[in-house]
Amino acid sequence: MARHYLDHASTTPLRPEARSAMAAWEETGITADPGRVHTEGRMVRAALEEAREQVAGLFGVRGRQVVFTSGGTESVNAAVWGVWRRDPGPVACAGVEHSAVRDASARTSPVVPIDVDGRGRIEPAAVEDALARGLTLHGRRPALVHCQWANHEVGTVHPVAEVVDLCRRQGVMTHVDAVAAAGHVEVDLDRLGADLVSVSAHKLGGPAGIGALVIRRGLRLDPFVVGGEQERARRAGLENVMGAIGFGAAAAHLARPDVRTAEEAVAPDRAAGAGRRRGGRDHPVRRSGPPASPSGVPRGGRGGGGAGPLGSGPGRHRRPLGLVVLVGEPRTLPGAGGHGGRRREVAAPVGGMVDDGR
Ligand SMILES: Cc1ncc(COP(=O)(O)O)c(C=O)c1O
Repeated sequence: MARHYLDHASTTPLRPEARSAMAAWEETGITADPGRVHTEGRMVRAALEEAREQVAGLFGVRGRQVVFTSGGTESVNAAVWGVWRRDPGPVACAGVEHSAVRDASARTSPVVPIDVDGRGRIEPAAVEDALARGLTLHGRRPALVHCQWANHEVGTVHPVAEVVDLCRRQGVMTHVDAVAAAGHVEVDLDRLGADLVSVSAHKLGGPAGIGALVIRRGLRLDPFVVGGEQERARRAGLENVMGAIGFGAAAAHLARPDVRTAEEAVAPDRAAGAGRRRGGRDHPVRRSGPPASPSGVPRGGRGGGGAGPLGSGPGRHRRPLGLVVLVGEPRTLPGAGGHGGRRREVAAPVGGMVDDGR
């Protein structure tokens, strides 16, 4: 009997684009520390920075905002630690957050719980309530509010833009765990404006063991992992270049204008409201175009392609309808609704979250 892997919410199979990019890099035989100035070091540095631009391009941010980590868990820990070093106040966190968020928060700070509604949704009013409760219980408002973008178990997509907006108006920092959302719904981080966002490659067809913490422009945080100047002194340790190349290739594939997110595949008219790659502003990554490839590795040969355009549009209230599971390898589906009957590849043959457009 054929067995089919359905547990994409835990981890996704490696995308062919990521696999071939990593294989092409392996074939170059180049080994070097990207921090070294010799020729090989500079070639590895170029490959790493190209991957960073690809990841940044998918999320609508600049490359220097992307700090590579060992995965979502480390990104979350780095966010919590970094904020705590700046401002060791209480932290507001809902019980539906991933254990990485809950445990990292509980280790550093008193946690003010954010109540969720009957569907497990983090409503802005509940965040406001938690901010007020922090004041009552701890004599000050929380220093940090966590709001996951999508829930990793039941697929609830939270009104993250509204929560971030509320916190920004109150001068409270925000961390968004976008690990379960990235690659499956539109994640335009420049537009979102959160202080810190965690993502992970193995949830979107990249390899395990690499993720990123995306840091708001201008925000400086103490590193969680210390002992070296890598990642602009924001994360010590020799970079996982192979992992970054796979992550970059998966991200570049997902950013292509002809690739749909799971959300767009199952609810094209609603997803079109999010404006992904349709109209909207000209993204800086797009404007400047993909970086040159001084690594000597042909850009196409790594299977990554360039960073795609990221349009933006009005935010939407996303409400959970349930979990959508698309089974199988990336494939083409007949276009429908807003896609004008064209055929498009489905970006995420995985558990995806949809909204009901209300
Ligand atoms: C929502 C969420 N956050 C964080 C993580 C941790 O990510 P990683 O497995 O890359 O450490 C996961 C992994 O399942 C997750 O689903």
